[in-house]
Amino acid sequence: MRMYDIIEKKRDGGVLSDAEIDFFVHGYVAGEIPDYQMSALFMAIFFQGMDARETAHLTMAMAQSGDMLDLSSIPGIKVDKHSTGGVGDKATLVCVPLAAAVGVPVAKISGRGLGHTGGTVDKMESVPGVQVAPSRERFLEIARTVGCVVVGQSGNLDPADKKFYALRDVTATVNSMPLIASSVMSKKIAAGADRILLEVTCGNGAFMKSVDEAVELSRQMVEIGENVGRTTVALVTDMNVPLGCCVGNTLEIAEVCDVLRGHGPQDTVDVCSELAANMAYLAEKGTLGECRAAVRRAIDDGSAFGKFCEMIAALGGDVRTLYDTSLLPQAACMREVRAPRDGFVFAMDTERVGTASVVLGAGRATKEDAIDYTAGIRLARKTGDPVAAGEALGTIYASREDLLDAGERILLGAYDIRDERPASHAHFYARISREGIERF
Ligand code: URA
Repeated sequence: MRMYDIIEKKRDGGVLSDAEIDFFVHGYVAGEIPDYQMSALFMAIFFQGMDARETAHLTMAMAQSGDMLDLSSIPGIKVDKHSTGGVGDKATLVCVPLAAAVGVPVAKISGRGLGHTGGTVDKMESVPGVQVAPSRERFLEIARTVGCVVVGQSGNLDPADKKFYALRDVTATVNSMPLIASSVMSKKIAAGADRILLEVTCGNGAFMKSVDEAVELSRQMVEIGENVGRTTVALVTDMNVPLGCCVGNTLEIAEVCDVLRGHGPQDTVDVCSELAANMAYLAEKGTLGECRAAVRRAIDDGSAFGKFCEMIAALGGDVRTLYDTSLLPQAACMREVRAPRDGFVFAMDTERVGTASVVLGAGRATKEDAIDYTAGIRLARKTGDPVAAGEALGTIYASREDLLDAGERILLGAYDIRDERPASHAHFYARISREGIERF
C-alpha cells in the first residue's frame, strides 16, 4: 500500500477502505509518513469529506493508536466534556469544577489552541506552577481526591490525534466535519469516561458556521459515541460573539475565577451553568431542573470555586493568583481600542477577534511557536451594546508595541457598528441525544 495512492483516491472523491485508514493512521504515528503527505491527505479530506463508515473507522483507529484510559478506580459515573472550540470559550474550566461540586467525577484530557480558537491546556498552563502532564497515577489520584482533574494530552493517549491536531492547525484543515468528529470522539473514547457532553459551537467564530452544520456534526458524534456504548449528548452553542469579555490565556483564567465566584459576565454564567447541569443530568444527579438548581447553589455557596482552586493546587499551581487575579502575570504593553463612530455594535466577526488575539501573541502560527500567556483582549463592548465615537471597544495586551498595532487593526475590523440595534441572539440552538434532535 502506498500513501500516494491513498491521497490520489481521496483527492478524486473515492471512499477509503478500513485497511487504507489504518495504514495512514499507523504510518503517520510511527513517523513513516511525512508531514507533507499527511497534509495533502487532510486537504483532500477537507474538500471531499468522508462517509459515516470512514469517519467511524478513522475515530476508532485514532482512539486505538495509543493507550486507552481505565477510569474504573474512580467511583461514580464519570462524565467527560468537550468543546469544538471557540473564541473566549473558557466553558470547560468553569463547568468541570461546577459539575464536580455537585458530585460528578470528571477526569478530563484537554487540548491546546487550534487555529483562531484558544485551548484549555494553554489557559491552565498560564497559571504559575501548573503542570498539565502529571503521571497517570497522579491524574487518577487527583480525580479521586478532588473530584475533578483536567490535564493535557500527554503520554501515549490518542497519539494519532495529537499529531493530526498539530498538523491541521497549521495547514488550514481544521474545519472539516469528519476530521473534527474523529478528533473529538477518538479522544473521548480513549479517555475512558462513561458519558460524554459535547459543546458544539456554531457561528462566525466557530469551525461550524451554520446551525445545520453544527447539528449534523453533533449527530455524527452522538452516533459514534452511542455505537461504542458511551451515552453522548451535544448542545449546540452560539459563537457569533466571543464568550465572556476576555480572550487570551491569563485574562480568561481571571474571568473563570469571576464566573465561579458569581460575578462573571452573564452569557458565560448562563452557558456554563447549562453545560454543567447537563453533565450532572448525564451523571444521574436528578432531573435537569434539579441539576440546574444544584449548579446555581454551587456557584452561590463558593463550592465550585473551591473545587477549581483545589484542582489547580493539586496540579502545582499557585492558588494565590486565583484569589487575587492581579497576581497573575501581566502583559508588558496594553492599549485601548476606540470606536470610530457612534452607534450600536451590530455584529462581531468573532473569528477575527480570535485572530487578533493570536497575532497579539496568545496563540500559535506554527507548531513550534511559544505562547505569550499574558497577551489577549478584554472586550468592553460586544454585540448589542451602544457605543460613542472614541469610547473603548476593548483593551488589547501584548509584549511589544508593534504587536499591539497589528492586533488593533484586526480587532477594529471585527466590529460592525451601525445606527440600529441588532436583534438579540440565543446562547443555545439545539440539544442532540440518542432520543433525537431538539431545536430551541
Ligand atoms: N476540537 C478538537 O478536539 N478537535 C478538532 O478537530 C476541533 C476541535
